[in-house]
Amino acid sequence: MKLGCCYYPEHWPEEWWAEDARRMAEMGLNLVRIGEFAWSRIEPEGGARYDWGWLDRAIETLHAAGLKVILGTPTATPPKWLVDAMPDMVAIDEQARPRGFGSRRHYCFSHEGYRAECRRITAALATRYGQHPAIAMWQTDNEYGCHDTVLSFSAAAASAFRGWLAARYGTPDALNAAWGNVFWSMEYRSFAEVDPPHLTVTEANPAHWLDYRRFASDQVASFNREQVDILRKASPGVDITHNFMGFFTEFDHHDVGRDIDVATWDSYPLGFLEQFWFSREEKQAYLRQGHPDIAAFHHDLYRGCSNGRWGVMEQQPGPVNWARFNPAPLPGMVALWTLEACAHGAELTSYFRWRQAPFAQEQMHAGLLRPDSSEAEAADEVRAAAAVLAEIGPQTCAKAPVALVFSYEAAWTIGIQPQGQSFRYLELVFEWYSALRQQGLDVDIVAPGADLSGYRMVLVPTLPIIPEGFAEKLAALDCPVLIGPRSGSKTASFCIPEGLAPGALRDLIPLTITRVESLRDGVAEPAEGFAVTRWREDVASDLAPELADSGGRGVVYYKDGVRYCTVWPDRALLKLLVERMAGEAGVELLALPDGIRVRRTQAHVFTFNYAATPVFVPHLEATLPPASWHLDPR
Ligand code: GAL
Repeated sequence: MKLGCCYYPEHWPEEWWAEDARRMAEMGLNLVRIGEFAWSRIEPEGGARYDWGWLDRAIETLHAAGLKVILGTPTATPPKWLVDAMPDMVAIDEQARPRGFGSRRHYCFSHEGYRAECRRITAALATRYGQHPAIAMWQTDNEYGCHDTVLSFSAAAASAFRGWLAARYGTPDALNAAWGNVFWSMEYRSFAEVDPPHLTVTEANPAHWLDYRRFASDQVASFNREQVDILRKASPGVDITHNFMGFFTEFDHHDVGRDIDVATWDSYPLGFLEQFWFSREEKQAYLRQGHPDIAAFHHDLYRGCSNGRWGVMEQQPGPVNWARFNPAPLPGMVALWTLEACAHGAELTSYFRWRQAPFAQEQMHAGLLRPDSSEAEAADEVRAAAAVLAEIGPQTCAKAPVALVFSYEAAWTIGIQPQGQSFRYLELVFEWYSALRQQGLDVDIVAPGADLSGYRMVLVPTLPIIPEGFAEKLAALDCPVLIGPRSGSKTASFCIPEGLAPGALRDLIPLTITRVESLRDGVAEPAEGFAVTRWREDVASDLAPELADSGGRGVVYYKDGVRYCTVWPDRALLKLLVERMAGEAGVELLALPDGIRVRRTQAHVFTFNYAATPVFVPHLEATLPPASWHLDPR
């Protein structure tokens, strides 16, 4: 795994560049990502009058120090002259307000004029640097969707949506039938009458929302593809990446992942712990480390997004500026996060950022250097990680024993119609992932369309819409399968399937969901060894439940290796189910103490201590200090 950093030569006096480059190389870095926000310096006035001089010299300077460059297309930051020239290129939010100039990502994915500008600037960059020996990789744009920017309700988006619907349904009658628009007299006479699903008096039709999300996701993918096509032509053989985000499902990353070579993501474990659903206790216990499954979950998710090639484009090096609270990592964590990425098979880890900026929005965001160029706390940890990486050499990961099926469409479906406010898709999948990882299992997080053969356990936390062929694929497996609640509960056009849920999955396990209910936070209905919380389903079936609650109501049903779980499983139930499945599959488990995680490459077993205290690790027969790792050859 190579190390790198995110660098903004345009932020610093040119006299500093050579010394910066020398210090990067000395620290053990090989890669430098630049350029992704530099449009106003590359093209200050518009009219295709480019100022390449500074960028030429920046690239030469880095190259001369032995560094390779990841060059970003600057399309996340359209400059003022461009917004002034086409004011309707900005995204419009759900309340119909234009997203103003003065930060970033203020564009609408559907605006044809803006797309043309993006193709032009991408082609200009690709032509100038496509064959340059310093360029190791291209990054398209930056964090598609950050700051809530996938959905736009602009005129351009509305018009593109109408075209998308016409292509999908053919006639307005077919759309009316699919969505059930007879309800509340919502029928349309032409596609031209259909608006985006916002500003309605009460909720819009969930089918309308789902198609709007599908459409918006397709717009992201096609926007990205336009840049990829240009880069491939002008820069053949050079890898292309995009940097995805954490806990983010607003577009289908599997779709974008198919068009790029390396899926990268931006890892801010402390910010994510603070901003997401974690309990008060977890936020305290892992304050300066992040929850032990946050980074790993995304490593395994993004490895499944682009054929196994992935990396970390932005690694948190110290306190960030954007969470509600921004603690500093425990000493050791930056090195631990770095080695953990390697343990999950990353090709690169690049720190965000080289030097903390003393100006503008992110002046409180740590870098590897402080604004005065002195080394920040993380610098020595980068050196330590670089030394370990040099010692162990390249690491590759085998297929994991367990597949966990992840679907962006499932996230949208549950998000559009949660039915119980604590039914959160990402949290559900994360809990299932965490249950596997706590038992020492390596996990591949895969798309519903992935080849599932060869896995020894397959888990589907929920899949409301069952894609063509998915049930048959599960039926052909010869390993334990666990299917979660709400699976098969919707058709592709967001209706209840004929014959009720679980729809097509009934061929795998003969049961029918006759009623569902959601439970308010704090309700826990007892069963032996676990409790039912958040969600439960009533079942009609000739099967006797494998597990029931204290009142005899079925919780888990089993037939021929396939289990269906009718509730939001708590941690105790998940643990029990993982143990049962592993026992049946003959997969060995490791009962890990709190905070300990294990991950295997082909050559090594890595053990990580995420706890803030020393922990005795039975399989090592040793105590690991806080924020530390241990490495064994396999
Ligand atoms: C990322 C973004 C970077 C920077 C960073 C700060 O979301 O890609 O440009 O803003 O966060 O943590």
